[in-house]
Amino acid sequence: MQPIIGLTVIVFMAGALAIGPAGAQTAAQAQTPGMGGAAAMHLLPGEEFLPSDVRAKQADDFDNPAYPYVEAGEATWSKSEGLNGKSCEDCHGPGSKSNVKQAAASYPKYVPSVGKIITLESRINICRRNGLNAPALQDISDQMIAMVAYLRWLSRGLPASVSAGGQAASVFERGSELFYAKIGLLQLSCAQCHNQKFGQKFGGETLSQGHALSYPVYSLSQRRMIPLHERFRMCNLLARAEPQPINAPDYVALELYLNWRSKQLTITAPGVRP
Ligand code: HEC
Ligand code: HEC
Repeated sequence: MQPIIGLTVIVFMAGALAIGPAGAQTAAQAQTPGMGGAAAMHLLPGEEFLPSDVRAKQADDFDNPAYPYVEAGEATWSKSEGLNGKSCEDCHGPGSKSNVKQAAASYPKYVPSVGKIITLESRINICRRNGLNAPALQDISDQMIAMVAYLRWLSRGLPASVSAGGQAASVFERGSELFYAKIGLLQLSCAQCHNQKFGQKFGGETLSQGHALSYPVYSLSQRRMIPLHERFRMCNLLARAEPQPINAPDYVALELYLNWRSKQLTITAPGVRP
């Protein structure tokens, strides 16, 4: 395997001290034996762990089976829908030009009008209800997956730029605790599989570092799109733990923590996975 970004190093301890709340540092210290105080982890994107044909499919929009979702999202962006007779574009301008280009990289984020940390899906639904006067979509509906794929595709190449402090501090701390918590019949944490064992085989798959940057992804074996929280559910099942509902507060917290953890990598959505 050839690390393409071998020089990108994150010092988890230093990062937690600089950006995260004190609890993140304690949780990490307590539960990463072998990755003690000064330990650093080279960040490798999920694509590094893929067979080369799958990686090539993701890199080529024409061959990427998730790309039709990007196109569907793009078409919806400028189409009027709902009782106000408006489209997303009427308020935000063309997707490629507007600030929304960076938006996907900054979620989950604190949104003052609802007073909490929300995902991009929830933000889209707020705009659907308040802006379009159209019904909210389920996070796992094709239409929502398409809009998220489009907005994250617009953010391709940008680093995830979530905030872990201020209003986000307690959710961030929860996410970091969850990442190191041993759960399920197998008593496995996210960190055990994705910080300590990446590069090793688990079942038929090669463990990656568990970054969220390519989501949503198209699964070639399941022939469908997998949104991030569904990947969390799959990972919970691998540890024989009870999965939580899509958009559960714990999953929002994990998503925030993961995006902070991969800050020095860039968004590559929509991904393709075996
Ligand atoms: C009536 C005007 C209006 C319409 C229509 C509208 N929005 Fe918004 N949207 C806003 C406002 C106001 C905000 C909050 C201010 C901001 O962050 O730009 C916002 C914020 C957003 C954000 C977050 C931006 C950020 O940086 O955090 C996204 C993403 C978004 N809208 C997507 C959509 C999508 C997708 C649609 C169509 C389904 C849509 N909007 C329709 C007014 C609108
Ligand atoms: C038993 C080992 C195991 C545990 C525990 C586990 N995962 Fe995973 N995870 C996997 C496997 C296997 C895959 C698919 C191959 C890969 O990308 O690592 C995966 C994939 C992922 C991916 C997608 C990576 C990509 O690039 O496609 C994310 C994100 C992720 N896991 C997050 C988590 C989180 C968050 C937790 C804790 C709630 C967790 N995982 C716990 C085994 C595990």
